[in-house]
Amino acid sequence: MKIPTEPLTREQIMRQLATYRTPDLDIRGGRVFAYTYTPPTDVEETTKQAYLEYLSENALDPTSFPSLVAIEREVVRMVASLLRGDDRVVGSFTSGGTESILLAVKSARDKARAEHPEITRPEIVLPKSAHGAFHKACDYFGLQPILVPLDRATFQVDLDAFRQAITPNTILLVGSAPQYAQGVVDPIRALGQIALDRGLWLHVDACVGGIHLSFQRDLPGWPHHDFDFSVPGVSSLSVDMHKYGYAPKGASIVLYRDKSYRRFQIFSTIASATYALVNANIQSSRSGGPIAAAWGVLHAMGQSGYRQIVDSSMQATQKIVDHINQSKHLRVLGKPDVCMFSIASETINVFELADEMRRRRWYLQPQFSTEWTPMNLHISVSNANVPVVDEFLFDLDQSVEALSTRSPLRIEDIRHQVITMLEGATPAEAMARLSASAGFVDGQLPEDMAFVNSVLEAMPREMGAYMLAEYLNDLYV
Ligand SMILES: Cc1ncc(COP(=O)(O)O)c(C=O)c1O
Repeated sequence: MKIPTEPLTREQIMRQLATYRTPDLDIRGGRVFAYTYTPPTDVEETTKQAYLEYLSENALDPTSFPSLVAIEREVVRMVASLLRGDDRVVGSFTSGGTESILLAVKSARDKARAEHPEITRPEIVLPKSAHGAFHKACDYFGLQPILVPLDRATFQVDLDAFRQAITPNTILLVGSAPQYAQGVVDPIRALGQIALDRGLWLHVDACVGGIHLSFQRDLPGWPHHDFDFSVPGVSSLSVDMHKYGYAPKGASIVLYRDKSYRRFQIFSTIASATYALVNANIQSSRSGGPIAAAWGVLHAMGQSGYRQIVDSSMQATQKIVDHINQSKHLRVLGKPDVCMFSIASETINVFELADEMRRRRWYLQPQFSTEWTPMNLHISVSNANVPVVDEFLFDLDQSVEALSTRSPLRIEDIRHQVITMLEGATPAEAMARLSASAGFVDGQLPEDMAFVNSVLEAMPREMGAYMLAEYLNDLYV
């Protein structure tokens, strides 16, 4: 494909984009329970305008665009105070949860390098439920993840195992508030005490739920958790604006107890023949759009707006959880602390349930089994889903009913098929055979994903991860 020889008109471009969009999830009608967080329409309009106002400004150079410094400072201060940080707490605006986590992990690594040069094989103590971004950080920064089991009933990290996982090589401890999979908050107060006792850095990943939990604290009837700077021993936090903060994508905050921690985040060089480089972020050139939009959404929502949305999302969640727990075929895993949870079944294949729901234009997110959890579907309830809960429950019942009358795809059978199919295959042949059997045509995913997900469920996890990387490498060509 080549750049068009002559420019297209705006109408032609927008028409073309609209056509491309046809197969996408419809995020406006509240039928998607993952990935997107849509604020009320008036807030979204204000936020869009704020974004466009700073579309082309570059936060790379604080001296050229001082207004972006002022706006970023205000966003960080508002979020720091919501997370009960004092005036010493500092932070940075980043492109998302993963960047916030990468930066906190890199800072912890570099602090340990400076203060404990004797540690040559640094380790991070990580609950099994911690987000994959920590594994990515270990991969990028040469660290060893030490994985800690979960409590079988609550899915919180097992505290005894957590203590035992700490060694003289430990440089960082991690807890989640909440973890994404089951929406459960780790026992952060106890983790803070462990961090203090052992003189270690504790990072709390509040990417998905930090803003939600902070407003939930003010509302009667819902679980309350201390997970922020009010907990002694917490050294840093990651909090995403682009999830339950309702800002458009590209907006997260990493916060540190004081400037001495953040100092390890900053990179500067004047060794190149180009301009002097000083970056707090992984990105260097940074659009002003997400920063202005995040500032806009905080002002357009106000505390009362967030409180109202948190309350209605929790009520909607309660209704869905109660309904599912009455079902003969489904159950909610554990007791979610926020408006996110996951559902499993002993009688039907939940990946087939996701397909049934997809045919009815709903999106539920497949999650694979672990030692503690069966394969399940994740549901994140947010503002857009609240008005359509009854319709959702009706379609969920219909889908379960449809599946309960036929025999489910059985993971054991699929595992057997996969083993037979892959016998003697090279990695490339394995990929080709699996793709063909799963119904991939020209690299395009099949409409029904249950078989693909069940194959991944049936495989050893490393092989599944390898296949996903191969798939992505082929997708963008
Ligand atoms: C708990 C948690 N941490 C980190 C992340 C990563 O965030 P992002 O996708 O913005 O990089 C997520 C994403 O869902 C999350 O749920």
